Amino acid sequence: MAAEPVNLNEFQELARLALPKMYYDFYAGGAEDEHTLKENVEAFHRITFRPRILVDVSRIDLSTTILDYKISAPIIIAPTAWHKLANPEGEVATARAAASCNTIMVLSFTSSSSIEEVAASCNAVCFYQLYVLKKRDIAATLVQRAERNGFKALVLTADAPRLGRREADIKNKMIKPQLKNLEGLLSTKVSSDTGSNLEADAREAMDASLSWKDLEWLRSITNLPILIKGILTREDGKIKAPSDDMSIALFCFPCSLRLKEDSFPFIHSIKAVEVGVAGIIVSNHGARQLDYSPATISVLEEVVHAVKGRVPILMDGGVRRGTDVFKALALGAQAVLIGRPVVYGLAAKGEYGVRRVIEMLKDEFELTMALTGCPSVKHITRNHVRTEHERIH
Ligand code: FNR
Repeated sequence: MAAEPVNLNEFQELARLALPKMYYDFYAGGAEDEHTLKENVEAFHRITFRPRILVDVSRIDLSTTILDYKISAPIIIAPTAWHKLANPEGEVATARAAASCNTIMVLSFTSSSSIEEVAASCNAVCFYQLYVLKKRDIAATLVQRAERNGFKALVLTADAPRLGRREADIKNKMIKPQLKNLEGLLSTKVSSDTGSNLEADAREAMDASLSWKDLEWLRSITNLPILIKGILTREDGKIKAPSDDMSIALFCFPCSLRLKEDSFPFIHSIKAVEVGVAGIIVSNHGARQLDYSPATISVLEEVVHAVKGRVPILMDGGVRRGTDVFKALALGAQAVLIGRPVVYGLAAKGEYGVRRVIEMLKDEFELTMALTGCPSVKHITRNHVRTEHERIH
């Protein structure tokens, strides 16, 4: 393999060579049989193109807008834990790469650089990913710090009431590094060389009682827009009221109504950004939580149909090629997030590696747009792809 990788998969191999096995396995691994891990990637392979010809593609515009932030391409950095395991500069290097690529970084709750360090390091547009712990005041403190430091949105990860069973970490006795943002808030001691039990630690700390009604609480402690990450079904895309009490209908999220819309026409006039979630991220947590969850690209359209354009939908899981980005957009996503490739780039070549990962994906995406006859992201339609269930006439 050439020293300078030519695609994202080659970065994975470089990362494998660069990292101690324990850390590489932590980044690369999925839950249990890793069925979903493979499916996340392979489901993209089963989607083919319906390219259009003789379209003027002499100029291609990859840019898009997410929550009013214009970015160079619909490719965002997903929240992933502990970047200092990959590179001593940690999330600061990742954020700088995001800034130079003019895209958004979602900083993980389990980051190894602090909110303040990331904010001071560059002018990237950053969102803050939140897990809610049993000690609710910790979430409130972190949200305030994110707000104070100019983070633009919260991403509530909602698919992790418990940690998935990641057998590589169990075998390797994966050592839990420090959670930089929790210093002084929660015991952040680094475990001894016997290794830590990530699952048990998470079970002790995480609030498994978190439910839809708690979005009301989250909204009460922040003015930032909230995206929900981890939705895989039309039911969760469309239906959830913050309380079972019908009288709070006025408070219902437009993307999450348990009530029939037709019986409450006034609901149409409620703006999502004012009263509810600002966006949805279709995600199975990079196949690290519930094995045999569906590949995200295979359920994206189900959620898109349920949400009916009321809030933007993003997706992540298995995006490794510019063709994957295109397929996600054709099936209704406004942008994709990438997780592992970013940490592989970071492990292999630091900030430059992250930049290269994003640039490569952008270059491939641009080429896909040219070869499918799409001069801008607005030109990408459902008609440009064929899923495996669609017959060829
Ligand atoms: C993650 N992911 C994740 N998600 C989240 O909301 N908070 C987190 O702290 C983490 N941490 C994390 C660590 C590692 C090593 C991985 C691989 C993933 C999930 C992540 O945001 C995203 O959903 C997936 O990584 C997307 O899939 P790909 O791009 O890795 O296939």
